[in-house]
Amino acid sequence: MKKIYTSADQIDFTLSDIPSMPAPKQVLTVKPTYFDVEYVINPHMKDHVGRVDKMQALNEWEHLVDGYEELGFNVHQLDGVEGLPDMVFCANQSLPFIDEDGNKKVLMSIMHSPERKDEVPHIEKWYRQLGYEVEYLDNSQVDDFEGMGDALWHFKKRLLWGGYGFRSSLKAYDQISEKFDTPVVALELTDEKFYHLDTCMAMLNENSVLIYPDAFQQEGLDMIHKLFENVIEATQYEAEKLFAVNATCPDGKNVLIQQGCTDVNQKLRDAGFSVHEYSTFEYIKSGGSVFCMKMLLW
Ligand code: ARG
Repeated sequence: MKKIYTSADQIDFTLSDIPSMPAPKQVLTVKPTYFDVEYVINPHMKDHVGRVDKMQALNEWEHLVDGYEELGFNVHQLDGVEGLPDMVFCANQSLPFIDEDGNKKVLMSIMHSPERKDEVPHIEKWYRQLGYEVEYLDNSQVDDFEGMGDALWHFKKRLLWGGYGFRSSLKAYDQISEKFDTPVVALELTDEKFYHLDTCMAMLNENSVLIYPDAFQQEGLDMIHKLFENVIEATQYEAEKLFAVNATCPDGKNVLIQQGCTDVNQKLRDAGFSVHEYSTFEYIKSGGSVFCMKMLLW
């Protein structure tokens, strides 16, 4: 079976052919002690250098952590590191995985920007303490890969959706597909405001997904529509200004999302999801929101 899919006509399987994977029960977070906007590596950061309200950022982060606890997740709170203001976005430094025998593995990222490279060893150390088997990409073949910023597991399936173009390279998915023995649906990203897949695609449950369509090529949209029965679309305003699509639905029912996404929230409720709104305005200044402030793992 071909492992990397780049157009709908190549898709030779249906979701029922894909083996299932348990849903994660643990959440990793990184305390925002040193969170700030100190440099500009995406368009959202541009006018915000030095403009983070630290107290507000801490409040927002604490509310979000409470939200995961209320849903019954075991939340780990890792200390931040001075000089690494983006480490709080802990969806980016790794891609965790559980194999069919229940072995927990993690692939460490190769961060695209030099400013974020030093985050990776801190996160790796934490995974080792937890007993995860640590894997690496071959950096003679692959320049960049930003973990769950770009690589999203299909809800409870051994199928990976892989974004590429800005922070991760298509080539990374060849190695990932082989290492984790999993097919990858590769989606090219076209708008630098949506530089990670998690800014324009949110898995909701096995058959439902939330997307911002203008961030994809037609091939990508065709593959999304081929594999999901229910495709919910965010408006430009909510996707770009409120990071509506950087939402997360960790259990297939409850959606945690930035406050004020009126249109998306109505569509989510109509589709049977429970919506929980959180303010992440301080993190939006850095180009991130609910999804990328955590890592779901087993
Ligand atoms: N300032 C961070 C960066 O540009 C934000 C990362 C947000 N993460 C995400 N997965 N969208 O790398």
